[in-house]
Amino acid sequence: MAYNLLKGKKGIIFGALDENSIAWKTAQACHAEGAELVLTNAPIALRMGTINKLAEEINAPVIPADVTITEDIENLLTKSMEHFGGGVDFILHSIGMSINVRKGIHYTENNYEFTHKGLDISALSLHRVLATAMKMDAINEWGSVVALTYIAAQRVFPDYNDMTDNKAYLESIARNFGYQYGVKKNVRVNTISQSPTRTTAGSGVKGFDGFISYAEKMSPLGNATAQECANYCVSLFSDLTKMVTMQNLFHDGGFSFTGVSQAVIEQMEK
Ligand SMILES: NC(=O)c1ccc[n+]([C@@H]2O[C@H](COP(=O)([O-])OP(=O)(O)OC[C@H]3O[C@@H](n4cnc5c(N)ncnc54)[C@H](O)[C@@H]3O)[C@@H](O)[C@H]2O)c1
Repeated sequence: MAYNLLKGKKGIIFGALDENSIAWKTAQACHAEGAELVLTNAPIALRMGTINKLAEEINAPVIPADVTITEDIENLLTKSMEHFGGGVDFILHSIGMSINVRKGIHYTENNYEFTHKGLDISALSLHRVLATAMKMDAINEWGSVVALTYIAAQRVFPDYNDMTDNKAYLESIARNFGYQYGVKKNVRVNTISQSPTRTTAGSGVKGFDGFISYAEKMSPLGNATAQECANYCVSLFSDLTKMVTMQNLFHDGGFSFTGVSQAVIEQMEK
């Protein structure tokens, strides 16, 4: 059901790779709520994924940008502002990648070149996007920026590897830049800490099947789906959440505050 919560708003969505992507569902949800969108992803992802299908469906241009390259972000913001005829009201940062995870390198043996690259893509990119947007004055007053994260930033999930450190850094940037952008232009910056979700990035984590069913059993409401995450993003882009900033918001069916659940106890007693 749509409520026109984003009527007249303009947004940029990073990270829609295929229809499982959280960004994909978010783009559809924002469109349904009346927003106009620009889609972006890394050039290689545009070749590998199916973003053009989404672009057609929601009538949005696709502008390539590798988030590790400042010129790409400048180009994306310039072209988006030309397209919209002004600044943007919201941005979704839905980007994550660890080469150590991808190559199955254990956390204690991480290759630091890969660590640097993963940190650049997964965390510093939020700083890069915000800093470039601030310089270009690309985000409108009371704009909203959301980045996606995972509870491995606070608790140990061994197989999440160096993405744990990337997410801790990402959440810190959201807090610190949230302060700066809030003071400067009333722009808010938050992270959503999402349940494990079956996507290309999610399924890359070792032992993901065990991981996702454990979380399901530990969460009183069960795991939050990508669609539910998309709906939560809509609320944060809307004017109904204007005073929420610098927060890490758990969207996980209650997992983060559950010590143990009856379902897990029963499993252990088998
Ligand atoms: N899937 C989960 O279990 C889960 C849980 C919590 C948080 N998250 C976070 O949600 C976000 C979205 O991931 P997803 O699960 O939808 O997976 P996904 O694989 O669909 O999305 C990740 C995106 O990052 C993009 N990307 C990678 N390198 C890039 C670069 N250099 N420049 C621009 N884009 C680049 C990819 O092309 C892809 O579109 C990530 O931040 C992820 O860490 C995922």
